[in-house]
Amino acid sequence: MIVDLNSRYGLNPAHSEVVEACKIIEPCDTLDMGCSNGRNAVYLGQLGFSVTAIDANPGAIDMLQSIIVEEGMSIKAQVYDINNASLGEDYDFIACTVTLMFIDPARVDAVIADMHKRTLAGGYNLIVCAMSTDENPCPVRFPFTLKAGQLREAYEGWELIKYNEDVGTMHNGAKLQFATLLARKPG
Ligand SMILES: C[S@@+](CC[C@H](N)C(=O)[O-])C[C@H]1O[C@@H](n2cnc3c(N)ncnc32)[C@H](O)[C@@H]1O
Repeated sequence: MIVDLNSRYGLNPAHSEVVEACKIIEPCDTLDMGCSNGRNAVYLGQLGFSVTAIDANPGAIDMLQSIIVEEGMSIKAQVYDINNASLGEDYDFIACTVTLMFIDPARVDAVIADMHKRTLAGGYNLIVCAMSTDENPCPVRFPFTLKAGQLREAYEGWELIKYNEDVGTMHNGAKLQFATLLARKPG
């Protein structure tokens, strides 16, 4: 029986879009951007993905590192500032869930361009990011939010496997819109 390591270490379950993506993406070299304490990285690692997990928060990386050591997992966990837009390696799959909205708005284009560059031909990007539109102004003061259609435009030329700009409801009833993109780089 496979032990659920997320539960064992008090991590939330992996993001639902990561779980969905894993139904079509085979285990491969994967980057988890803004991994926090590793709910996605640990899940992916358990499924056999070869994971590099990066986050600017050293405390989160330390916690993930202690899970890696305890479980003898081969995840590489590293402190890294996404604003640098200088990923040093290529990947088959780059996941960036609920993280882009914390990036310096002036660096977002460079960050996405670097993700494109560092994705191998036929590889995948998954992004989930808050939006702010005329119809649904973002009720949370994130440093960055996407405009309508902005993420789709950034992936012109890629195969869009999934793209939506769905509106959700927060606990307090406020509307929060997210763009969700799973795209495949041309082979
Ligand atoms: C809301 S959490 C999302 C964590 C994870 N991706 C998930 O789906 O649960 C956002 C994460 O982005 C990280 N982050 C924010 N700004 C960052 C930056 N400039 N570079 C790297 N990580 C950053 C935060 O430390 C935090 O762990």
